[in-house]
Amino acid sequence: MSETPVADPITLRQLPRLRARDFGQLGGLLRPGTHSSPLLHLGKRFVLAPPGLPTMLVTHDMDDVRALFAHQDDFSLGQVLSRLSSHDRMFGKQTLIFLDGPEHRRERKLFSPPFQHKALTSYEDLMVEVVRRELPSWPVGEPLEFLRMGYDLAIGVLLGVVFGDVAPGRAERLKHAVHEWFGAIESRGFLAVTLLTPLFGGYTPPYPPLGRRQAEVDVVILEEIAARRSDPGYAAERSDVLSRYVGTELDQHDDAALARNLRGILLGAYETTAITLGWIAVMLAGHPEALAAVDAAADSGDRARLDAYLDAVVAETMRLRPVSPFTGRRAIRDTVVNGVRIPKGAMVLVPILLIHESPQHYPDPMTFRPERFLENRINGHLWLTFGAGPHRCLGAQFALAEARVLFRTILEQRRIEPVPGGLEPPRRFHTGLSPAANGRVILRERG
Ligand code: HEM
Repeated sequence: MSETPVADPITLRQLPRLRARDFGQLGGLLRPGTHSSPLLHLGKRFVLAPPGLPTMLVTHDMDDVRALFAHQDDFSLGQVLSRLSSHDRMFGKQTLIFLDGPEHRRERKLFSPPFQHKALTSYEDLMVEVVRRELPSWPVGEPLEFLRMGYDLAIGVLLGVVFGDVAPGRAERLKHAVHEWFGAIESRGFLAVTLLTPLFGGYTPPYPPLGRRQAEVDVVILEEIAARRSDPGYAAERSDVLSRYVGTELDQHDDAALARNLRGILLGAYETTAITLGWIAVMLAGHPEALAAVDAAADSGDRARLDAYLDAVVAETMRLRPVSPFTGRRAIRDTVVNGVRIPKGAMVLVPILLIHESPQHYPDPMTFRPERFLENRINGHLWLTFGAGPHRCLGAQFALAEARVLFRTILEQRRIEPVPGGLEPPRRFHTGLSPAANGRVILRERG
């Protein structure tokens, strides 16, 4: 039998190239309305070679995307993050997102169990409790910035889920240290350092305030780890993430590495979750039909119906407002992806938002219609808010469950209403998608 001849891979040089003077058009793929981008004329793949940066293939050919995420060992996510942004300073290069190949697989196995389906129900009471604690202080009947509520809810849940019952004095110190650390990350100084990173060949200059704040967080986390180690009975009755490590077969790190990874989880989970909660409120308030459906479900007292509709609202919100409109991988060796030769060092970028806004994948794509996710489940190849492949978000199932439980608990007590002025747009010049006016909505008592 004769073998089917394999076509020679094409090279990046053979693909359409984005001219330097049009680089600014890339911004149009970072904001809703990607379908009107002039870049679509270049087809589903195009290449850019910015001076001083690696060559980049941008592709929304779904066969390329599938093949890219399936190439476990030829690509690195961490090398994209450290070359284009300051993530390595924020996370530390030894955290999960920066590891590749077998080392990444081994670590991922150790850190997955607390975020898998089986563990999720054990966090539900905590999520409900956090809403009940926070909600009485939220204004009723006047505009509020829901993003701020999102941050309070996200940190309340995260600290509880990751650390459990921390002794009161230490809990306050931990909260304070984490708050200061996030403050340093969001400061103008660190933003400047981040913007310089691509120009410095991927080197992020040290930013001492961030280093100090990180060290302060680590001190408290290390104290807590030591306290757990000295009280072996403590973990037996707990379901927080730390208790699932200390003294178990997952406990294969020294304390500094465990602290670093727990800090990495806090960082990966905090802002992404808060922004998503903000967008859910904005999208509900801005779409009367979805709001009416959610209100009818909440008023019916049928929790399963409310949960099912909320899951669809969350999926639809994250389709149209993915916190990261792009993800990417950098080739760590010469390789071929779906017939395209990718040389070592080149990057492949996936425009998530453009894929989510494509009429080929989602009929009437610009309409916010949660029902599409009641009719069809999420298709993991076409819905990429959590990325895909071996680095797909570790907390994806957790984040979806969290959004459902938090909104269910809020909506059982409050109605959401829009503020005048139409649907809130994303912040301008913000690389991630976050609501420009911090998610302004009105809450009213549900009578
Ligand atoms: C709505 C909330 C969230 C969003 C939108 C989000 C998004 C993402 C994205 C886009 C990635 C990169 C995936 C890729 O490029 O393939 C990622 C990775 C990651 N996320 Fe999330 N995330 C969220 C919540 C969380 C939560 C709650 C946790 C932890 C509990 C978490 C922990 C992580 C970790 C550890 C990674 C790195 C995984 C790896 O490299 O193996 N994230 N996330």
